[in-house]
Amino acid sequence: MKIFTIPALLALCLPFATARPCLSQSDVNTLTTHFGDLVSAYSQKLANQTLTVDFVDYSESIITLMDGAGTTPKALLGMAFTSRANFEAQSSAQPSVPFQVQNTWYNCDTITIRWLSAQSPQPVVGISVLHTVYRPGRGNSTNFKINEVWAEFDSAAWLIDLGFTITPPSSKKREIVFEA
Ligand SMILES: *[C@@H]1O[C@H](CO)[C@@H](O)[C@H](O)[C@H]1NC(C)=O
Ligand SMILES: *[C@@H]1O[C@H](CO)[C@@H](O)[C@H](O)[C@H]1NC(C)=O
Repeated sequence: MKIFTIPALLALCLPFATARPCLSQSDVNTLTTHFGDLVSAYSQKLANQTLTVDFVDYSESIITLMDGAGTTPKALLGMAFTSRANFEAQSSAQPSVPFQVQNTWYNCDTITIRWLSAQSPQPVVGISVLHTVYRPGRGNSTNFKINEVWAEFDSAAWLIDLGFTITPPSSKKREIVFEA
C-alpha cells in the first residue's frame, strides 16, 4: 500500500512546481548581454554572476576549435566545458572576439540566441541555447543563472580566423569541362 504515498506526495508538490518563476524580458536582456560579454569582454566576476558553479557547455563547434583541426585531438562529442571553473580557466586564456546578439527567443527557463561574431577575414554566425535556473538573492540584475549551454556555429570560418588554411582534397577536385 505504501506505493500510493509517492503519487500523493507528487500531487501535493504540483502546485508549487507549476508556480515556479519564469524568465521575464528583463531577465532575458540581462542574461543575453552578460553571455555576449563573456565572449567579447570576459571577466571572472561576470562569469560568477552569470553562470552556476555546476555550469556545463555542449558544443562540437567549440571542441573542434580546441581540437585545432586535429593538432590537439579531442573527443568531439564530449562536453566543451565541464564546470564554471573549467569555463573560466579556458576563457581567461582566449583573446576576446566581437559578439552581437541578433535574435532572442525564450520560454519559462530557456533562451535561444542567434548571434554574429564579426571576425576577420570570415564572419561567424551561431545559435546558442541557454538553459537557466532560478537563483534568487545572489545579485540584483536577474534572479536567474545559466547552468547549461548548447551551441553550434561555423567553426570552419572561426578556424580560418585563427590562421588555419583549408585545403580541398585533390582526389575530390571537380573537373569542369566547357564545350562549344
Ligand atoms: C568566482 O568564484 C570563485 C568560486 O567559485 C571564487 O574562487 C573567485 O574568487 C570568484 N571570483 C570573483 C572575481 O568573484
Ligand atoms: C545591487 O544593487 C546595489 C545598489 O544599486 C549595488 O550597490 C550592488 O552592488 C548590487 N549587487 C549586485 C550583486 O549586483
